[in-house]
Amino acid sequence: MAFPGGVLLLLLSSVLAIGNVKLASSSTFEIDYKNDCFAKDGKPFRYVSGSIHYSRIPRVYWVDRLQKMYMAGLNAIQTYVPWNYHEALPKQYNFTGDRDLEHFLQLAHDIGFLVILRPGPYICAEWEMGGLPAWLLKKNDIVLRSSDADYINAVDQWMGTLLPKIKPFLYQNGGPIITVQVENEYGSYFACDYNYLRHLTKLFRSHLGDEVVLFTTDGADQGYLKCGALQGLYATVDFGPGGNVTKAFSAQRHAEPRGPLVNSEFYTGWLDHWGEHHSVVNKDAVAKSLNEILALGANVNLYMFIGGTNFGYWNGANSPYAPQPTSYDYDAPLTEAGDLTDKYFLIRDVIRMYKNVPDGPPPPTTPKFAYGAVKMKMLKTVASALDMLSFSGPVKSIYPLTFIDMKQHFGFMLYRTKLPKDCSKPTPLSSPLNGVHDRGYVTVDGVPQGILERDKCLSINITGAAGSEVDILVENMGRINYGKYINDFKGLVSNLTLGSDTLSNWLIYSLSIDEVVSKGFFWKGSHGRNVFSHSAKLTTPAFYGGSFSIPSGIPDLPQDTYIHFPDWRKGQVWINGFNLGRYWPARGPQVTLYVPAHILRTDAPNNITVLELVSAPCDSGTCTVEFVDTPILNATVSHPALKHKMFDKGDLA
Ligand SMILES: *[C@@H]1O[C@H](CO)[C@@H](O)[C@H](O)[C@H]1NC(C)=O
Ligand SMILES: *[C@@H]1O[C@H](CO)[C@@H](O)[C@H](O)[C@H]1NC(C)=O
Ligand SMILES: *[C@@H]1O[C@H](CO)[C@@H](O)[C@H](O)[C@H]1NC(C)=O
Ligand SMILES: *[C@@H]1O[C@H](CO)[C@@H](O)[C@H](O)[C@H]1NC(C)=O
Ligand SMILES: *[C@@H]1O[C@H](CO)[C@@H](O)[C@H](O)[C@H]1NC(C)=O
Ligand SMILES: *[C@@H]1O[C@H](CO)[C@@H](O)[C@H](O)[C@H]1NC(C)=O
Repeated sequence: MAFPGGVLLLLLSSVLAIGNVKLASSSTFEIDYKNDCFAKDGKPFRYVSGSIHYSRIPRVYWVDRLQKMYMAGLNAIQTYVPWNYHEALPKQYNFTGDRDLEHFLQLAHDIGFLVILRPGPYICAEWEMGGLPAWLLKKNDIVLRSSDADYINAVDQWMGTLLPKIKPFLYQNGGPIITVQVENEYGSYFACDYNYLRHLTKLFRSHLGDEVVLFTTDGADQGYLKCGALQGLYATVDFGPGGNVTKAFSAQRHAEPRGPLVNSEFYTGWLDHWGEHHSVVNKDAVAKSLNEILALGANVNLYMFIGGTNFGYWNGANSPYAPQPTSYDYDAPLTEAGDLTDKYFLIRDVIRMYKNVPDGPPPPTTPKFAYGAVKMKMLKTVASALDMLSFSGPVKSIYPLTFIDMKQHFGFMLYRTKLPKDCSKPTPLSSPLNGVHDRGYVTVDGVPQGILERDKCLSINITGAAGSEVDILVENMGRINYGKYINDFKGLVSNLTLGSDTLSNWLIYSLSIDEVVSKGFFWKGSHGRNVFSHSAKLTTPAFYGGSFSIPSGIPDLPQDTYIHFPDWRKGQVWINGFNLGRYWPARGPQVTLYVPAHILRTDAPNNITVLELVSAPCDSGTCTVEFVDTPILNATVSHPALKHKMFDKGDLA
C-alpha cells in the first residue's frame, strides 16, 4: 500500500526538523527520502545491526556479548522490551538486576553501538504470550492488540512508565536509540485495527517527541503490509536467507516508494519446538543473502545475533500448541552461551566488504567446565509438600478454576478431587474440550495413572476405588506468542469427565514452587521415601535434590557448564534457587541446559533441585544429573528442508 501523501508530509517535516534540531543539538537521525537512506547528523547512514535480547542473557554477560557483536563489525543492536518481564503484576515494575534496561542501553552506548528499540507492547519473540502480561486475561474476553478499552488502559499505563525512561537514550538527546518500532508484525494479526496503531503512534510521540523515527516491521509480502503499515510509521520488512532479496524488498517499496531499504529481521537461524527437529540454517546461505542485502545498500538487522536462554518459564509457544524449548540458541552466529562460531566469522567477512570492522580479535569463547555426575535423592513428592507449597491452602470450587482465576501466572497448580464411583476397571478420564493447558500428571491415591496433554492426549484410563483421591498436577508450558490464540488460559480450562460424568468438587492448590525452592525448604529435615511405581514406569511428580562443590585448585572456576539428565524425562530445574528452565530430553531436541557460572558458588555446596514430572530414574539404583562441557540441542536430526527456504512468519500460521 502506497502513501504518497504521507511521504510528502514526512519529507516536509523532516526538512523542518533538520532546521529546528540543528539549533538545539548536533545529533539528528532521520529518513532521507531523496537519497533513499537514513541520515545521521545530516550524512547518509546505513546500519548493520544484530538482535540481542537482554532478557535472555544474564546481566554479567551483557558486556561480553555486546563486545563480540561490536568486533563483528555491527554498528547497531536491536532489542525487544518484554512488557511482562517488567510488569509482572499490575503497576509493580521491575527494572533492576537482569531487568535493568537502562543499564543495558548505557552499556551498548558505551561500547559504541546505536540501538534499534522494539518496545512492543506486543513483541512475539518466542517469549511467553509475546511479551503481554498474563494478568491482562483477568478480563476474559479482552481483545489483545486492539482498541479494547481495558487493553488500551493497561498499555497507556505501561508506556507511561517505560517511555520516559527511554527518552534520554534517544539519539536526539545524546543517547544511542536511533529508531523505535511500534507494535510488531501487526499485519500478521487478525484484528487489523488501524485505530489501535494510530493510538500507539500518538502515545509514542507524546512521550518520545516528534523527531524520533518510528517504524513498523512486517513479513515481506503486500498481504502483511496491508494491516501492518500506517501513515507516519516507516514500514520495514523481515525475511531470511535463501530467497530473492530484490523481490522481498519490492514488498517494502510498495509501502515506501522512497526511503531506506530495511530488513528488520534477517534470520541467521530459526526457532525450535519441543518434539521437532533442531533448526539449523546453513552459514553459506546466510552469507550469500547478507551480501546481496548489503550490496543493495540496504539496512539490515541480523535476527538473532545471539539468541540466549528462556530461563524459568519465559518460553512462548506456537499454535496448534507447540511450546519452544528452554534454549533460544537459534543457530545464531554466537551460541546460546556466547561462543564464537564459523557463522560468526563468515558474517564478519561479509560485513568487512562493506564497512570497517574493528581491528583485533573478538573476546574469546568463555571456557566451559564438566563438573561431572551429581547423585540425586528424592526429597518430597509434590503431594506430600502441599502444606509448604500452597501458603494459603486450597480453594474449593465445584468446577475447575484457571490459573488466572487463582491469580497464579506461571508454573504448576494442583487440582484434587475424589473418584465419585468405583473404577476397578480402566475408566476413561477425559478432557472432551481439550482443556488441559498444557499438561496434566494424573495420580489416584498417589499412584501415577498417565498424562493428559493439550492437543495431543485428551483421554487416559484410570483405576481406583470410589472415594480415592485424584490429583492432577497441571503444568503451564508457556503461553502462545503468535497468531490469534494468544489469549492462552492455563490450568484446567474446561471440565474433565470420568466415563460419562463431569467431575466436580475440586480442591485447587496454587503452588509457590519457586519461593519454596529458593528458601531451601525441601532440604530441611526431609528424607526421601520411595515413590509409587506403576506398570508404565511412571513416578509420582516429586522433588529431587543433590549438591556439588566447585573443585579447588583449578584456576578460574566456576565456569559455565551444561546440565544433562540421563534417564530423566521431563521437569524443571533450579540451581541455588535460580530457575534454569524446563528439561525434556525424552522429547528433545534440547537435551542439556545452559548453566551460567554466576549462579554457582565456591564458598558453599551448590544445591540442585529437580522437579521430575514423569519418571525419575532413582528407583533403579543410581540417579544422577551430570555437568558436561558441550551442549546437546539436536537430539533429533536437523531438518534438511530448512536449508534452502525463505523464512517468513507465514510458516508459523
Ligand atoms: C527484579 O528482578 C531482578 C532480576 O530478575 C530480581 O533479582 C529481583 O528479585 C526482582 N525484584 C523484585 C522486587 O521482584
Ligand atoms: C528476483 O526478483 C526480481 C524482481 O522480482 C527479478 O527481476 C529477478 O529476475 C529475480 N532474480 C532471480 C535470480 O530470480
Ligand atoms: C481404555 O480402556 C478401554 C477398555 O479396556 C480400551 O478399550 C481403551 O482403548 C483404553 N483407552 C486408552 C486411551 O488407553
Ligand atoms: C463445567 O460444567 C458446568 C456444568 O455444565 C458449567 O456450568 C461450567 O461452566 C463448566 N466449567 C468449565 C470450566 O468449563
Ligand atoms: C545448599 O544447602 C545447604 C544445606 O541447606 C546450605 O548449607 C548451603 O548454604 C546451600 N548452598 C547455597 C549455595 O545456598
Ligand atoms: C548435532 O550438533 C553437533 C554440534 O553442532 C554436530 O556435531 C552433530 O553432527 C549434530 N547431530 C545431528 C544428529 O544433527
